[in-house]
Amino acid sequence: MLGCVNLSDPLDELLVCRLDFGRKAVTPCTLIIFGASGDLTARKLIPALYHLYREKRLPTPFRILGLARREKTDDAWRSELREALDRYSRSQPVDEAVWCDFAANVSYCQGDLAEPAAYARLKERLAASPHPALRTNLLFYLAISPSQFAPVIGQLAAVGLLQREDREGSWQRAVVEKPFGHDRASARQLNADLMRHAHERQIFRIDHYLGKETVQNILLFRFSNAVFEQLWSRQNIDHVQITVSEKLGVGGRGGFYEEVGALRDIVQNHLLQVLALVALEPPVSLEAEAIRDEKVKLLKAIRVLDPSQVAGNVVRGQYVEGEIEGQQRLAYRQEPKVAPGSNVETFVALRLLVDNWRWSGVPFYVRSGKSLPLSASEVRVQFRPTPHVLFAAQCGPRLDANSLTLRLQPNEGITLRFNGKVPGASMQIRPVRMHFSYDAEFGAYTPEAYERLLLEAIAGDPTLFIRSDEVEASWGVVDPVREAWGGEPLTEREFYQAGSWGPAAADELLARHGHAWRNPQPRS
Ligand SMILES: NC(=O)c1ccc[n+]([C@@H]2O[C@H](COP(=O)([O-])OP(=O)(O)OC[C@H]3O[C@@H](n4cnc5c(N)ncnc54)[C@H](OP(=O)(O)O)[C@@H]3O)[C@@H](O)[C@H]2O)c1
Repeated sequence: MLGCVNLSDPLDELLVCRLDFGRKAVTPCTLIIFGASGDLTARKLIPALYHLYREKRLPTPFRILGLARREKTDDAWRSELREALDRYSRSQPVDEAVWCDFAANVSYCQGDLAEPAAYARLKERLAASPHPALRTNLLFYLAISPSQFAPVIGQLAAVGLLQREDREGSWQRAVVEKPFGHDRASARQLNADLMRHAHERQIFRIDHYLGKETVQNILLFRFSNAVFEQLWSRQNIDHVQITVSEKLGVGGRGGFYEEVGALRDIVQNHLLQVLALVALEPPVSLEAEAIRDEKVKLLKAIRVLDPSQVAGNVVRGQYVEGEIEGQQRLAYRQEPKVAPGSNVETFVALRLLVDNWRWSGVPFYVRSGKSLPLSASEVRVQFRPTPHVLFAAQCGPRLDANSLTLRLQPNEGITLRFNGKVPGASMQIRPVRMHFSYDAEFGAYTPEAYERLLLEAIAGDPTLFIRSDEVEASWGVVDPVREAWGGEPLTEREFYQAGSWGPAAADELLARHGHAWRNPQPRS
């Protein structure tokens, strides 16, 4: 059901169409955070929950129960979280009165997840909740190591806190952090382990990119604008570039990164999710399953590279010393907890083809890297050039083809690049740009991705979460690449200077097909 409301501003003829009348309501519940003393809880979860509380979006009553091994009192945990809010809250200063109200709903339970006693204690604490819904409507947030996901779900089921069937009037769900598996076989195994105790509809696999406004906007933008919708195919689009670049190196996370690398850390999840949204067919409705069905179809249509094709379509890289914004940077191999001879990729670029009717022959170039000149995520849709009949003699290929850039972060917005006449007596054409900026249009308010995702998980709407077949299909795209690399040492050509846009081979990958990377600009 949708309705249209005329904006009150008399100067503005815009219509706002509401698409969320059928949205699921939040119901009273307890959120149990496993990993209460961890980085994710302090940096993302608690700030997001504080803001949801401040905006009165959480159900009433609502409780947060944190669990970890370290001994501490409720008050000690609250003051740790309060300090973290000062550092990580998107709004400053923290509203003390709101915090005090919020914190009254927060408590701590000590326990080792490897010990059955922890679950017994948790059950006891929940049983003592004053409101019946707080005892049985349970959202388990697994902010713990991936190796603990399956055992914890098993233990919760064993003590009866997680019921496979939704009983009348009560529910239990689990939010599972990334990474979900380290390849397709392990993801499949983890899916099987979780689904032994819970329905697919009870498992909420997180990819925080899906919580971003700009990523959600891809679908709305594509299917609500006839101008672009009609151009969105191989007939008009020459190729697509998707970049997720990070200025930071691995810093203190070398130990984690050594196990993962850019392909598994970013490509398998964030980049393929964005690609799926850019390329999927129109879903039959906005229902979660309709959208997720189309994403799976798209992911399955990505051509799987056989080992002999990997070298020609994938470039990996690792950063060596360099300089970013006047600051000297270490080589990856010199970072703490990184092996001196490590061959882990800190950069990867792929040329992917989508074998379906719409995209046949259109390359999707995706890349991600660390220690690049700029932190930015963006999609650039490069349209085909016009026939050069009118301007061929003078301009030839110098006549710029149109492009559309979706800036996912930062400087969130969209830029359309097209050609215009340079004013004056001479006849000159050059590209000009038309910008839409979220800040200018909607103000600086940008909720954190985790706010939206937590709210959806509490409401039980899985649209912005990854389904089991989706995660397996994504691994199916990246696994053959890793297998083809097969532990081969990096060659000289695969190293790049910190502060550059990756190895020269990444430029050559596109140049071979007559294309060139368009790098994100600090302010475009
Ligand atoms: N941090 C991020 O920005 C981020 C981003 C994306 C995904 N993730 C994912 O989120 C999860 C958590 O990451 P993190 O960075 O928050 O990790 P972390 O800082 O290492 O925190 C791990 C938490 O787990 C608890 N824990 C570990 N073993 C336990 C046990 N046997 N029993 C009870 N509690 C135990 C630790 O507390 P005690 O030591 O007190 O027990 C700590 O609270 C991981 O799956 C990670 O991949 C994190």
